[in-house]
Amino acid sequence: MSAEKILVLNATGKVGRNVCRALLEAGYEVYGTTRSSKGTLAEQGVKPVVCNYTVRADLDRAFAETGARKVFVITDYFGAAKKSASLEFEQGRAAIDAAKAAGVEHLVFMSVADAEFFDEHVKHLHAKVALEKYLHESGVPFSILRPCAFFENLDDAANWNPLKKGVVKFLTMQDCKYCATYDIGRAAAIQLKDPQTWLGKSLDVIGWQGDLLQVAAALSKVSGVPVKAKLAMPIFLRKLFLKDLHHMFLYYELQKGPRGTPEAFKKILPGALSAQDWFRFHGRYSNGEKIAPDCATVRSPV
Ligand SMILES: NC(=O)c1ccc[n+]([C@@H]2O[C@H](COP(=O)([O-])OP(=O)(O)OC[C@H]3O[C@@H](n4cnc5c(N)ncnc54)[C@H](OP(=O)(O)O)[C@@H]3O)[C@@H](O)[C@H]2O)c1
Repeated sequence: MSAEKILVLNATGKVGRNVCRALLEAGYEVYGTTRSSKGTLAEQGVKPVVCNYTVRADLDRAFAETGARKVFVITDYFGAAKKSASLEFEQGRAAIDAAKAAGVEHLVFMSVADAEFFDEHVKHLHAKVALEKYLHESGVPFSILRPCAFFENLDDAANWNPLKKGVVKFLTMQDCKYCATYDIGRAAAIQLKDPQTWLGKSLDVIGWQGDLLQVAAALSKVSGVPVKAKLAMPIFLRKLFLKDLHHMFLYYELQKGPRGTPEAFKKILPGALSAQDWFRFHGRYSNGEKIAPDCATVRSPV
């Protein structure tokens, strides 16, 4: 029997690449959208589909070309939607409408854990809440994944936080809930393979919980070198220049959100990555140097 097809939107992003990887491992024939034909998706075993995942006509063509009846949908306030919640909503709506027109049997939408509980300053989550509602009313068979903070933020050179030997940086020193984008893909596979359980349902993706000293201890254990934990910027600068994210972190710091737990997620995905697991999985510092000799020789696609 040939493998089931799935279309992954924004397949070259931090989420998309690892979702593709997990879905390939779960046995799917994975098609991934990218605006450029020059990417590395094919090397990963993903069939590239040249498509701007925010444009309805491109999406219609992608569904027609691939014949996929399963889809992983993502939206992005900061990148593709250029910090406009209404544009992010329109882009997400285009994906849901295109899936409906194509007769999609199962759409997995990536939202954010507790999106409805953050204060009004956390503008990058407004569209997520509205899109969940739109999806419920759309008639498209769906499941929702609600991830917490990505481990990938700990090595994010594009946002001035490359992972360097001997130090980890983040925007809070306090207790925080993390997940690997790879586990978003593994959770999507669980939902797609068991529609009876998961159609119409949401799942919080929360793999591990700890403060930045515990993150540093995890990296130290994997790398074998001492690791310092540092704020990526002082809190007053976070408040001044990153108002949206500052208020998101206030929800983590003051209200101990999101409410879900790693224990609950591990009932669904027992092998969810811990901080130590993620550093091993990630394998390399930002400059390409291996974190430990036994880390994978091929850099994880993040
Ligand atoms: N960071 C976190 O902790 C966290 C936690 C929970 C949820 N999230 C959510 O994750 C989402 C972001 O996902 P991500 O990190 O995977 O995104 P990402 O890595 O920033 O995505 C990058 C890709 O977006 C595409 N792209 C960039 N600009 C575009 C544009 N103007 N139009 C169309 N495509 C464009 C590019 O693909 P091509 O050039 O190949 O087309 C690029 O490779 C957001 O919705 C965020 O809310 C993040």
